Amino acid sequence: MPSVPTADPDSTGAVHARAHPSLALVKYWGKRPGGTNIPATSSLAVTLDALSTDTVCRPADEDSLEIDGRPQPPGRIAPFFDRVRETVRCDTRFAVSSRNSFPTAAGLASSASGFAALALATVAAAGGDTTDRHALSALARQGSGSASRSVFGGFTAWDAGATAARQLHDERWWPELRIVVAPVHGGPKPVSSRDAMNLTRDSSPFYDAWVADAPALFQRAEAALDARDLERLGTVMRESTMRMFATMLGAAPPILYWRPQTIEVLQRLAELRRRGTAAWETMDAGPQVKILTTADDADAVAREVSPWCATSPVISTVGGDACLVPGHEPRERDTGKRAGGSDRMNHT
Ligand code: PMV
Repeated sequence: MPSVPTADPDSTGAVHARAHPSLALVKYWGKRPGGTNIPATSSLAVTLDALSTDTVCRPADEDSLEIDGRPQPPGRIAPFFDRVRETVRCDTRFAVSSRNSFPTAAGLASSASGFAALALATVAAAGGDTTDRHALSALARQGSGSASRSVFGGFTAWDAGATAARQLHDERWWPELRIVVAPVHGGPKPVSSRDAMNLTRDSSPFYDAWVADAPALFQRAEAALDARDLERLGTVMRESTMRMFATMLGAAPPILYWRPQTIEVLQRLAELRRRGTAAWETMDAGPQVKILTTADDADAVAREVSPWCATSPVISTVGGDACLVPGHEPRERDTGKRAGGSDRMNHT
């Protein structure tokens, strides 16, 4: 079990946590009825180093949360803070300030890194046990399912029916792997993943087939990851992605997250693969495209998709565990290698 670095609270009791988004290679899409975010399908994911959420939490008289400078409605986050108090057995109230280095709620897994950082920051501020990764993962899951995976670095699995994710390999497993994040559209997504999953489960005739097929995809992906075989992993990842979208297109009303630029990028990637470049795409509940590739091919892939991006593509390595960091101010949006020269992501 990896240990969590500790950062002592300052004189105001503030702590600072950082977590990275979890990009699903095999998708979590569908919740079991009852429970809070219990997955109907097993997912397998990689943690992205180049994107991050930084969260500072201080004990306070009242609960509050602001994300990227915008105060959030108290009712929305209250159940999560209550769960933290139940878990830690305390009555601490939390004043939380969170910054994403990338657009929020746009299909770039801000909820995964956001709730992983929030779970770690609040547990630390309340004096709870931040070394129990399983408990942190179970807590983060209650904010957002994919956040259970963002507690861990490297490659993670979250099994169907499980309350917490587990680490398969740490971030050193596959040093040559790169993920190009192509943000093709800047706005927020039209339907939350939570609503889209529930609508799919309740109305898509393809949903049961998706759940029945999911274990075979997971097994193939895990074997490909163990063998560090990018072509096999990329192939199964594309199948998982497209089958997930097929269930959404079958929902009533249908759910469509893609933009024209999404399709343009997919066609460029198909062309790159025909020419022998490693370029395997996935998308989530949003229009953005993420591409698995190698250190050798990453710049070429980023250049190729750049004309369809709203902001510069970002090239990421595999990220580490959610952690506590010394210094209690959230850092500015400053992460990631930007293809195309700029080292800052413009926000649209
Ligand atoms: O846990 P949520 O609500 O962020 O849903 C995540 C859903 C997908 O990103 C589409 C798939 C996944 O496994 O991350």
